[in-house]
Amino acid sequence: MPDSIPAAQLLRPGVFITFEGGDGTGKSTQVRRLVDRLTRAGIVTVPTREPGGTRQAERIRHLLLQRDSGSFDPLSEALLLFAARREHLVSLIEPALARGEWVVSDRFADSTRAFQGYGMGLDGAVIEQLYRLVAGSRVPDLTFIFDIDPEVGLARSGKQKAARADTEEGTEDRYELMGVSFQQRLREGFLAIAKAEPQRCVLIDASLPIDAVEQLVAAEIDKRFGVAVASIEQVTA
Ligand code: TMP
Repeated sequence: MPDSIPAAQLLRPGVFITFEGGDGTGKSTQVRRLVDRLTRAGIVTVPTREPGGTRQAERIRHLLLQRDSGSFDPLSEALLLFAARREHLVSLIEPALARGEWVVSDRFADSTRAFQGYGMGLDGAVIEQLYRLVAGSRVPDLTFIFDIDPEVGLARSGKQKAARADTEEGTEDRYELMGVSFQQRLREGFLAIAKAEPQRCVLIDASLPIDAVEQLVAAEIDKRFGVAVASIEQVTA
């Protein structure tokens, strides 16, 4: 038995966890904190994001998110997102899961359901068809859906972007510029997804303090997967 494979990986198959929600819900911070906890628990964990996660998918991210990219037809936009997702699945997610690692992704296909479906009006059946083509039977083992009043979320993400104004990520705000009513449709979409799939999805009240949300997430991981990450000392980041 090679020394380099941690015990946790030998005992259980890979786990795929996704974080979803509108803009400014604080989920990226929680992805970092959970990955830190899992890593300190000895679980090899791959943090990633969508759109993105691989070089090719990050190129597509750039095309879609830059504020000066103009508008896309909703189906074209979904096709680009699913092209990025395919790259992400084939090159990063599936190989990591096959090695028994955990993958924690900041957004995945529920974002397409919410943004391009509920937000932009693309037919949900088309999105599911593309999902099957691109991801087959792969579904996240657990999805946290971060819920917040869109006015609060947009104000939060505006502050974060202002802090990164002179970086490329500071101009990745094409969706935030779509305004509060768009974010309201997203919220309804995410709530509907959580309701339709209660086994997979856990709704998180993102208006709670950051440390409280971290504890909720960690406790859910312990409950679902029989690990002990909630009792690990908190390291704020
Ligand atoms: P974020 O990394 O700040 O969450 O930005 C990603 C943006 O892309 C966010 O506004 C949501 C949007 N998005 C979609 O519209 N559809 C998708 O399928 C994904 C993954 C993201």
